[in-house]
Amino acid sequence: MTRIFSGVKPTGHLTLGNYLGAVRGWAEVDQHRADALFCVVDLHALTVEHDPARVRRLSRQAATLLLASGLDPERCTVFVQSHVDEHARLSYLLECVATDGEMRRMIQYKEKSALERARGGSVRLSLLTYPVLMAADILAYGADEVPVGEDQTQHVELTRDLAVRFNQRYGHTFTVPRATRPEVAARVMDLQDPTSKMGKSHESGAGIVYLLDEPDAVRKKVMRAVTDSGGEVVYDRGARPGVANLLEILAACEGGDPEELSGAYDSYGTLKKDTAEAVVEVLRPVRERHKELAADPAYVEEVLRAGAERARGMARPTVDAAYRAIGLLPPAAEGPAGGARG
Ligand code: TYM
Repeated sequence: MTRIFSGVKPTGHLTLGNYLGAVRGWAEVDQHRADALFCVVDLHALTVEHDPARVRRLSRQAATLLLASGLDPERCTVFVQSHVDEHARLSYLLECVATDGEMRRMIQYKEKSALERARGGSVRLSLLTYPVLMAADILAYGADEVPVGEDQTQHVELTRDLAVRFNQRYGHTFTVPRATRPEVAARVMDLQDPTSKMGKSHESGAGIVYLLDEPDAVRKKVMRAVTDSGGEVVYDRGARPGVANLLEILAACEGGDPEELSGAYDSYGTLKKDTAEAVVEVLRPVRERHKELAADPAYVEEVLRAGAERARGMARPTVDAAYRAIGLLPPAAEGPAGGARG
């Protein structure tokens, strides 16, 4: 059976980009067709300035939102990365396979380190090595597929390179995974700045729709979206990024094709209105279910406990095999002294 792994980082409240680019597909498609694991990757949230209490809060919230989005613990494994030691264990081995040049070429590293420096802060070493930990997340489970938004493509490519290199040097150990992404909305753009990605922590939140925004806040943000001069509704990502973004969001929410949808509109006003309502409707059940689940933290905790236990069982044999393959001496098996000699 196909194995799927993906994750979300608790560095901010989850956005419409996370949902349309990744989480919705996990719930609607992936968990039904594969042996799937979905993870709140909390270790990754420590790569930039962070507040411990906030990371804890956001981790719990992200896990609750994954369940509210329809991930069913009877069908897939939902867990928190730091509850399973194998991620960090494997990450170090992969650091011994990756090169520093490879790390420095990562687009997200370049962007985020520049941002940290511009803010006068220092850049954590873990920001540089982050993609190796991400590779460990994926390879520990022998995942075949990694459903992600477009911004993660380069990291999954690196994961493939590391898997192939490790296998060539030390013998076949890892499955070489591939990224999959949704047909539309693989890169939802910021509504106020449609040339940059809608991210969890853009300077101002005005262009970001959060999954837990109230309907009126969603309407306000979409109605105030920056559109392009021209006035004609055409789907052209290069020349009309604002309108193209709205068309993609609408297409993703209602089903359909952004190009075809553009023919149905002759003004930006009606396009915005319909997009706003479509987003409100898509998010409504998620918000409602989140409210119920947030009132039952013991249930969420139990799901995460059981998920981590299952995940540990899946990752352990692969990570142990990697330890042996790379040349580390296996610890002696427990048992009476003077037992089997190898
Ligand atoms: P993160 O937390 O930034 O995002 C989670 C998922 O949401 C997708 N996404 C988007 N898709 C479309 N439009 C957007 N504006 C948008 N913003 C985010 C992301 O592509 C991602 O699929 N490094 C990862 C987390 C991670 C991971 C992993 C993912 C760690 N280990 C192993 C897969 C497998 C990240 O920062 O995602």
